[in-house]
Amino acid sequence: MSERAQTGNLADYTGRIAAALEQFLEGGQGDAMSRHAEWSPALSGPLPAAGVGGDAVIEELARTVIPNGARMSDPGFWGWITAGPGTVPVVATLAGAVASPQRYTITAFNKLEELSLDWLAELCGLDAQMKGVYSSGGSVANLIALGAARQWALEEAGSDPAADGLGTVPLALYASAEVHHTVQRAAGVLGIGRRNVRIIATDDHQRLDPAALERALAADVSAGVVPVAVIATVGTTNTGAIDPLRAAGELAKAHGAWFHVDGAYGLPGILDERLASLYDGLELADSTIVDPHKWLGAPVGIAATFVRDRSILHRAFTQEPAAYLEGAFVDPDDVRISLDSMGVPYADFAVELSSPARGVVVWSILRELGREGVRARIRGDNDFARHVATRAAASDRLELMAEPVLSICCFRYVAPGVDDDGLDSLNATVLRRLQAETPYLPSSTVVNGRFVIRPCFINGRTELKHVDGLCDAVIRIGDQLAGLASAGSVLL
Ligand SMILES: Cc1ncc(COP(=O)(O)O)c(C=O)c1O
Repeated sequence: MSERAQTGNLADYTGRIAAALEQFLEGGQGDAMSRHAEWSPALSGPLPAAGVGGDAVIEELARTVIPNGARMSDPGFWGWITAGPGTVPVVATLAGAVASPQRYTITAFNKLEELSLDWLAELCGLDAQMKGVYSSGGSVANLIALGAARQWALEEAGSDPAADGLGTVPLALYASAEVHHTVQRAAGVLGIGRRNVRIIATDDHQRLDPAALERALAADVSAGVVPVAVIATVGTTNTGAIDPLRAAGELAKAHGAWFHVDGAYGLPGILDERLASLYDGLELADSTIVDPHKWLGAPVGIAATFVRDRSILHRAFTQEPAAYLEGAFVDPDDVRISLDSMGVPYADFAVELSSPARGVVVWSILRELGREGVRARIRGDNDFARHVATRAAASDRLELMAEPVLSICCFRYVAPGVDDDGLDSLNATVLRRLQAETPYLPSSTVVNGRFVIRPCFINGRTELKHVDGLCDAVIRIGDQLAGLASAGSVLL
């Protein structure tokens, strides 16, 4: 081993890892838990006093770690809102990690940081003024957007929360009962308070109810509470519902609140022309987010927050001056070497200083697929959800529990004579057996109080045969559990 470690041959190491990954992607190794007794002890042990060297680490990675990874790249994985990434963005991530480990200084990678944000905004139908900043995921992206909202709302009331703290004015946020639960955490972190997120009722299609929103806003304004932001979701996590953006945005503005749109999952859904009208009112957003690591197939760790004017982000998140950065943000036209300037001050627009160059990853996806390629992907995934709905309509053993809007389809197995409570536990068992015995890995949720099986189709490796396989497996396992013969829709 070299005295100065961490310098092994990149081509050799990545070649060996790539081979192990290719084998992993071929599947067939089953679930890591079935081999837990082997890999867990092999990976346990004390901190080594002397290192084993790069070669041995690569060997352990290839032999023990990679084969026991998560099945999220399998074509039948449709849990939560996550899936294995595409190949090109994985390789772009590696390229960025090696050749541009930070997003500052003037480099080709860092040009792509801004370019890809602009492309992403355009892809998702945002106004040209919307400018972005990357962060690690939707949770942080929402936090940044709501930090901007807090700054704006309190500046309107005559103070500067980033500099002076919150003061005593009571603040509130407004979001539907289907909002992602990290929004309450953001409210806690921002000092607005988890309990001051007003949970607004939803309609029969799990969309925010504007009349209930109006009542909550009016009650708070008359009680002297400052309405900081109304949050609408495009693509809720449970069912993929899209809140009524125009109504929510107009109510926010009428009551002096910021309008935030959480599009972590569903913002790229605007590319499906059949659904574009559901995005009417998006232009009212003061901020919006999207996660390229969801529907665009980036490796996990990339979200973008967009605002109309990044100076609000600067006021909300700027760092205090630091002597070691004095003069670091010079005009890029003035630089002699790339290190002369830090480039765009992203570190002052959000909460990270050190940060990977994420733009190259998003750029690689948009270059590889183009707008039409992404559109085809989105439409195809939405079609998969509709296919499950069609299968449910055609079978007396399946019941659609929420009409798909985007690429999530909530459904359940049904058997004659089994009541709703019985179906809840039956379907919970169907899900567990699906996950344990088949290549199909949806997750679950609760819709209108009932347990449902919930595939979310954002996985670039999925094909129609896998979607049919899921429906067939649900019927087969459900019939076994219910003691019925599995013969299509006919009860024998
Ligand atoms: C609508 C919505 N917002 C925010 C998040 C949080 O995103 P992340 O997991 O990237 O932090 C999610 C995650 O699924 C989500 O569905």
